[in-house]
Amino acid sequence: MKNNPIIPYILIMAFGIGLIFFMSLEGAGNKEEIAAEHGEEGGATEEGATASEGAGGEELVSACIGCHGGDLTGGMGPKIAGLDAEHIVDVLTNGIEGSPMTPGLRTGAEAEAIAEYISSLE
Ligand code: HEC
Repeated sequence: MKNNPIIPYILIMAFGIGLIFFMSLEGAGNKEEIAAEHGEEGGATEEGATASEGAGGEELVSACIGCHGGDLTGGMGPKIAGLDAEHIVDVLTNGIEGSPMTPGLRTGAEAEAIAEYISSLE
């Protein structure tokens, strides 16, 4: 009996399917690892947000970088790095009328932590 010429193709196909299966298992494993890492980070951020004194300012400014730039030196909004902490708390509390800088974005201890951190930048 002669070898069927299609057999090598079937072998390659079977190998390919096996590979895809293996890679998706690998991917699922990685996803769990990544999720676990992020879970830890999320926990730390929450602690920072609820801890009252000055903690977490660095994480909390993630709410500002969309408009003020990654290093807070200006984007759509102006540069705020290095501004007076009191002024920043004031702006956070009262907002700037007629601008996207709305009041109450962050309040209380969070606002103070953010302000302290931002004013420590250059
Ligand atoms: C939706 C976009 C947006 C977000 C988010 C945002 N800002 Fe602003 N911010 C602005 C804009 C625009 C201005 C300028 C407003 C104006 O002067 O008309 C501004 C102005 C300010 C000012 C006044 C700057 C000065 O020179 O007096 C401070 C302080 C400030 N933002 C702090 C923050 C902080 C802290 C956060 C994060 C908690 C934040 N902003 C998030 C858009 C934003």
